[in-house]
Amino acid sequence: MYVLALVTQKGGSGKSTLATGLAVAAMAHGERVALVEADAQGTIAKWKERRTDSYPHVDRIVDPTDIDPVISRLEAEGIWLAIIDTAATNNVLAMTAIARADLCLIPARPSPADIEAAIPTLIAIRRLNRRFAFILNQTPTRGGRLSEAATSLNSLGVLALPFIAQRNDHQDALGAGLGVTEFAPEGKASDEIVALWDWISKHLIMESPDHEQAALKTAC
Ligand SMILES: Nc1ncnc2c1ncn2[C@@H]1O[C@H](COP(=O)(O)OP(=O)(O)OP(=O)(O)O)[C@@H](O)[C@H]1O
Ligand SMILES: [Mg+2]
Repeated sequence: MYVLALVTQKGGSGKSTLATGLAVAAMAHGERVALVEADAQGTIAKWKERRTDSYPHVDRIVDPTDIDPVISRLEAEGIWLAIIDTAATNNVLAMTAIARADLCLIPARPSPADIEAAIPTLIAIRRLNRRFAFILNQTPTRGGRLSEAATSLNSLGVLALPFIAQRNDHQDALGAGLGVTEFAPEGKASDEIVALWDWISKHLIMESPDHEQAALKTAC
């Protein structure tokens, strides 16, 4: 099972929105997906209450010591991907999620303040020796400051593609208990999330220790 964690101490950067959007996009590929909410705010739990589809299941975690047992149970249940949504803080719960993740995703809006605010999270990820990628989220659909933000993030580490534009479909999907790919399958927001899931899934699998082991065995 792979574990993704959406992390950054910057509030409102899109952790929960991307967690739900990516979970549903991954399910559409036939993957068995679960969401783990490590944020007392409950954005994912409230989304789930509005949702009529019983998948993905959502587990809520309050205590850092609960992460390991929940991840082990999901793995035993045959889940292929667990996506952990964390709170806008570098608390112990968020650190435990980072430590458990195969890939940490750090959403940032294209402003210097947002990018600077992600640095403490990045330092924690590096200290825990985890893999990570930035996601440039809520980008303007026209013009403006994008290349500067992309250059800053690229200089700090890997930047996932594509950028996710600011589009109402994301907010409406969250409100409707849907993934954005379910809410407006033909929309640009949906296209971007499908493409982002494609990028993430390739990086998860290609750079996982399991894959490296398999490649090593083939080479021998
Ligand atoms: N690409 C986007 N386009 C439009 N709205 C977006 C986009 N991404 C996120 N939003 C909206 O921005 C707001 C904040 O997003 P979200 O709650 O996902 O951020 P968060 O990082 O989880 O916040 P918190 O740190 O408080 O948990 C929400 O209203 C959400 O729907
Ligand atoms: Mg959130």
